[in-house]
Amino acid sequence: MLLIFTIWYKIKIRKRGDIVLTIKVGKKKLKIFNLIILVLGLIIFLYFICNLVFMLPIFKTSYKYKTNTDNYETETFVTFKNKWFNCYVTESINVKSDYKLVYEYYVKDLLNDGYKNTKKDTYNRTIKVNGFCKQAKENYKNIHDSKYAEFMLNGNDNETIEYGNNYIDPYVIGKVNNKPVKEIDMFSNYNSNKVGSYVTSYSLSVNKYYTKRLYRTINVVDTIKPKINLSGDNTMTLNYDQEYNEPGFTAIDNYDGDITSLVKVSNKVNKNKPGTYKITYSVSDSSNNKTRITREVIVKEKDKVVNKVEPIIEKKDGITYVNGILVVNKNYSLPKDYNPKVNKEAYEALKKMQSDAKVLGLDLSLISGYRSYTKQEKLFNEYVKKDGVKKANTYSAKPGQSEHQTGLAFDIGSVDSSFENTSEAKWIQQNAHLYGFIVRYPKDKTDVTGYIYEPWHVRYLGVDIATKVKESGLALEEYLGIN
Ligand code: DAL
Ligand code: ZN
Repeated sequence: MLLIFTIWYKIKIRKRGDIVLTIKVGKKKLKIFNLIILVLGLIIFLYFICNLVFMLPIFKTSYKYKTNTDNYETETFVTFKNKWFNCYVTESINVKSDYKLVYEYYVKDLLNDGYKNTKKDTYNRTIKVNGFCKQAKENYKNIHDSKYAEFMLNGNDNETIEYGNNYIDPYVIGKVNNKPVKEIDMFSNYNSNKVGSYVTSYSLSVNKYYTKRLYRTINVVDTIKPKINLSGDNTMTLNYDQEYNEPGFTAIDNYDGDITSLVKVSNKVNKNKPGTYKITYSVSDSSNNKTRITREVIVKEKDKVVNKVEPIIEKKDGITYVNGILVVNKNYSLPKDYNPKVNKEAYEALKKMQSDAKVLGLDLSLISGYRSYTKQEKLFNEYVKKDGVKKANTYSAKPGQSEHQTGLAFDIGSVDSSFENTSEAKWIQQNAHLYGFIVRYPKDKTDVTGYIYEPWHVRYLGVDIATKVKESGLALEEYLGIN
């Protein structure tokens, strides 16, 4: 149009210097600047008219975000003749391994339930303009030529495997034109030897333009707690003022190996404050699995010095009495012919103790009571035969050295090391003195008595003395001040 005006009208440039283009319309001069504005307006107006007539596509964009697969999807919707078409773009960003960008394009008719029902001719004629959609137009044809491709994961898209366990990939099912596809590309950074999150991708090539992809996340986890092993006993008993020396420990984890150096120990033992203390050992492995165990430390009461005066040791008919109390031990023996049988007073006290315990459901059956010198001799010789003299000496008295020969001692409950932890043994420990008995060979007094702990062996002393001995926390020898 400008060209036509230029041919028909003369352009005049004024001499003043400011360039003003004018044209002559008949006898009127028109400023050419105004004319350009007019012409541009006309072009824009005509463009809108054309749009209305030809229904050019208008684009809208929306965004979706799938959290479970870490994939982003972008959809561009296109309208044409009041129908919506979806120009579909998938940008898969695998954030868990190397960055990969994959673009896939296809188009579907949102009004007619997916692209299966989209009419090919309608689409081919209308989709254009946008770069993505141009590509989509090409691919659309190819997707439809190949018919529908089926591609799905066997198993879950998110698997969790305990470290050390075997994992067999369940793979995928891929079909094109209803025929199974064997060649499916698979890529994975999975490492069964390292705790972490891995991704396996599977690609099914539908045709030259179109590849379908699936992803599976595999999490290798360690949920097994480390193990702490204590050296020494789980329960330790210390004398008053005795220093607690840590006997040691190790910590092993199925994933991290030896983590002993990471163990935290809390030690609050006060050697001058009798009581029960708990030492705690705690450790965490690299997956934050925590283990915490304890060791019990008992600080005993301060030994009471009961006998500051020298004990009065008397011998009558070869029997030793210390402060009037009959004593038999490895240093004070009984004559071979001392044969008093069971002591009646002691036996009555035993029966009372047994019946009171029975009410509580405790069985304090008598295992062994009075034993003559000869009987003890026989027993001791049998033990020597079985275990040798050294060991026999730790649990059996030599003939003439057994309290059983006095008729004042009884073995009750069970003569077995497991008896220590029974309710019966605990009850005896706490209540025997009320009936006039003491546990004669106490725990941790082996060095004093010469015998192992015998929770079943009680010795009758009468309630008064038995109570004093019990409360002193001492072995009878210590209480009396003898060896
Ligand atoms: N078992 C104890 C020490 C005894 O034989 O008399
Ligand atoms: Zn005994």
